[in-house]
Amino acid sequence: MEKRLAIIWPVSVLVLLIVFYPSVSLGIRARPKDVRINGGDVRMDLQSLSRFAEAPEYRNGAECVRLRFSGPKPELDPNMVHVAMTLDLEYLRGSVAAVHSVLRHASCPENVFFHFIAAEFDTANPRVLSRLVRSTFPSLSFKVYIFREDTVINLISSSIRQALENPLNYARNYLGDILSADVRRVIYLDSDVVLVDDIHKLWNVTLTGSRVIGAPEYCHANFTNYFTDEFWSDPDYPSTFGSSTPCYFNTGVMVMDLGRWRAGSYRARIEQWMEVQKRTRIYELGSLPPFLLVFGGDVEPIDHRWNQHGLGGDNVKGSCRSLHPGPVSLLHWSGKGKPWVRLDEKRPCPLDYLWEPYDLFKAKVHNHGLNANLLKQSQGSLFGYSNYFL
Ligand SMILES: *[C@@H]1O[C@H](CO)[C@@H](O)[C@H](O)[C@H]1NC(C)=O
Ligand SMILES: *[C@@H]1O[C@H](CO)[C@@H](O)[C@H](O)[C@H]1NC(C)=O
Repeated sequence: MEKRLAIIWPVSVLVLLIVFYPSVSLGIRARPKDVRINGGDVRMDLQSLSRFAEAPEYRNGAECVRLRFSGPKPELDPNMVHVAMTLDLEYLRGSVAAVHSVLRHASCPENVFFHFIAAEFDTANPRVLSRLVRSTFPSLSFKVYIFREDTVINLISSSIRQALENPLNYARNYLGDILSADVRRVIYLDSDVVLVDDIHKLWNVTLTGSRVIGAPEYCHANFTNYFTDEFWSDPDYPSTFGSSTPCYFNTGVMVMDLGRWRAGSYRARIEQWMEVQKRTRIYELGSLPPFLLVFGGDVEPIDHRWNQHGLGGDNVKGSCRSLHPGPVSLLHWSGKGKPWVRLDEKRPCPLDYLWEPYDLFKAKVHNHGLNANLLKQSQGSLFGYSNYFL
């Protein structure tokens, strides 16, 4: 392995520098420091990077708005839909499937711009990840940013599941800083989602009043369990939620008004809670509770179809879950279990077969006949919205 890399690196790094330099840019500026974070068990080694199939080419329909910027910065075109996701080796297969699903169902796939946030110290260099995205989606409009992990590492406290501590989980908090100030709205997506509907519909939602974030809300959630006794017994902290009952929302799918975000210094507001957490343990989960503290109760309620979350099961056992009632536009495998892992281990949950058609990892190809049948069965019996998939 090391010998191979020694030969491949000098050549590929040079080529990548020349070819991809413009698409890689630095995000957060901070002191460089030699911090290495163990991102959990990385299930794919670097060789796997060449094992993604090229996605079919998705083209705009005749009704799509023509982009005006064909120059070096297509992300500045006012008609672009902006999507931000993280990109790391561990969840790469999920990210690739998510992008594939967005393109497949978008009415105007060429008008979608992807902002990928990669970790400075990922096993796969951000330039290698750029190359992978380019070879998988040859005509995709995207940019890879490097997230300086040390901006956040001192703010992270340990949580119940190790994966929740990955600094990239906190990248969504820095989108206002990382993305160009010209990008004023972005859809943030976790890497364990697939869309089965047109992303332009989600992009078009109105954030009423001065709301900064739109996301499906769950107002029957019992907040007691998201925060510790130290939080609830504090004289001041509980009043953060005001008199109204706060609603839960999942931060894996958010429409964010970055203009309002920057103007209101929301990054700093979230960091303040992370500072509190370092002194007094006020919650158990990773990046979500600070968002609840800052935005809980003041989120634009988007239709629940845009985040059917929890399909990965709970954070401890990863048991199978079913869908919430109602229509589905986005499936989200939040929780411990990931569909690619369960499929590979031949112990998938029924809904994992809905993720599989978006998987571009080549090792799966010989299975497709079988999977198509299982997909049909699971669609018929579980929901009856097969038109989304065919
Ligand atoms: C989104 O809004 C734009 C601009 O108003 C409109 O042209 C487009 O048809 C809308 N797309 C969808 C899918 O609603
Ligand atoms: C919320 O959960 C706590 C602890 O599990 C429980 O004591 C409380 O009664 C619950 N509240 C509601 C409204 O269900």
